[in-house]
Amino acid sequence: MRQVTSITVCGGGNAAHVVVPLLAEQGYRVILYTPLSDEADRFREGAAAGGIEALFPGGGIYRGRPALITRDPQEAANSQLILMVVPAFAHGPILRDLAPYLPAQAFVGAIPARSGFELEALHILRSRKSGNYTIFCGHTLPWACRIEAYGRRVRVLGTKETVGMAAVPAGGAPALAQLMGKALKVNFTPMANSLAVSLGNIGQVIHPGIMYALLKNYDGAVWGEGEIPLFYQGVTEEAAAVLNDLSNEIVATAARLSAECGLDLSEVLTVGQWLIRAYAGYIEDSSTLSRSFRTNRGYRGLKVPVKKVPEGYVPDFQSRYLTEDIPYGLLFSKAVAVMCGCSTPCMDEVLTVTGSWMNKRYLGRGGKLNGADLKEARIPQNFGIYTAGKLVEAAK
Ligand code: NAI
Repeated sequence: MRQVTSITVCGGGNAAHVVVPLLAEQGYRVILYTPLSDEADRFREGAAAGGIEALFPGGGIYRGRPALITRDPQEAANSQLILMVVPAFAHGPILRDLAPYLPAQAFVGAIPARSGFELEALHILRSRKSGNYTIFCGHTLPWACRIEAYGRRVRVLGTKETVGMAAVPAGGAPALAQLMGKALKVNFTPMANSLAVSLGNIGQVIHPGIMYALLKNYDGAVWGEGEIPLFYQGVTEEAAAVLNDLSNEIVATAARLSAECGLDLSEVLTVGQWLIRAYAGYIEDSSTLSRSFRTNRGYRGLKVPVKKVPEGYVPDFQSRYLTEDIPYGLLFSKAVAVMCGCSTPCMDEVLTVTGSWMNKRYLGRGGKLNGADLKEARIPQNFGIYTAGKLVEAAK
């Protein structure tokens, strides 16, 4: 394992505010890359006032500041490890900016990776004539966190007990899980391969699935603040059936891929298995999937994403529940299902309806993978990978 003393954190949101002080306190030289608007200036003001404080539940506090805050990709690329903690749609633009300047050897990863990260990263890094890169993919963000004062203070509301981590080459996962675990004080567990992260991305099921089930009959009503529907607590038996169907189609796709190509995808769980594993202590009644969602204390009070209009609130169809979880999630699974010859009636319905809300056409007639907007999706076919065999080769 190559030694890592310097880490570039890409991103200026909630997650970056947690990562920077954690890494700085562990003694890493932290470069913060925030190319968007005035984020770098605001971080510099925070750094001048003493840096960032990350407040953990139970009273733990980490403090630290980056050694360098930059919008310059050449300065940002000068690290042994590049860590992206941004929404998935920012991975490509950031990697394209940094790629020309990366050192010949580096670890390049995203937490959370969502689906297809490694394919996009390999595709972009291939533009470098030579280079030896290990890609890593964090399964989820380890923290629920919110900025309290930009560039200065973030509150961590909870930390996941374990978070999966995969790598390409796949054999790099244990060493990277150990490295990142120590650096971020998180229990990362190595996963068999990056396809398990992509297909096991549970956000692709829960977020578009609940949005579809709750809003498929939305009639344009404007809600008062008290009328905004609950999101997870709104999961009826009917909505749970949609989630189960979506999830079963993905698990069946993983099983087919595994049988055809001999890849271990046992970490791709059903939504029910995942929910119990992730929230065991929080669920009061786990007798059905619907009840498990409705009685999960960790989900209490969370509402449908909305945007403000003059008379009140309407659903926000540009929410990341759709704009991140569909092109960087559910469409990936659909694309793999097509490669494996698996039928996906529920996915097709959800993708068609939610796509229309976003003014996107991802699928053609009969669920064919040929909609005009498919070029925006992070699917294997957009990186020249058309067969299950080639996909598995890339993930190894
Ligand atoms: P955020 O919304 O706070 O941060 C977004 C940041 O990404 C921006 O501030 C900017 O620095 C960067 N960014 C966005 N577009 C960019 C572009 N085109 N080029 C360069 N940089 C760009 O997001 P947050 O909360 O930090 O979350 C990061 C990821 O973790 C997301 O995928 C989110 O869904 C996920 N996540 C977050 C949780 C939380 O509690 N904050 C919980 C679970 C998952």
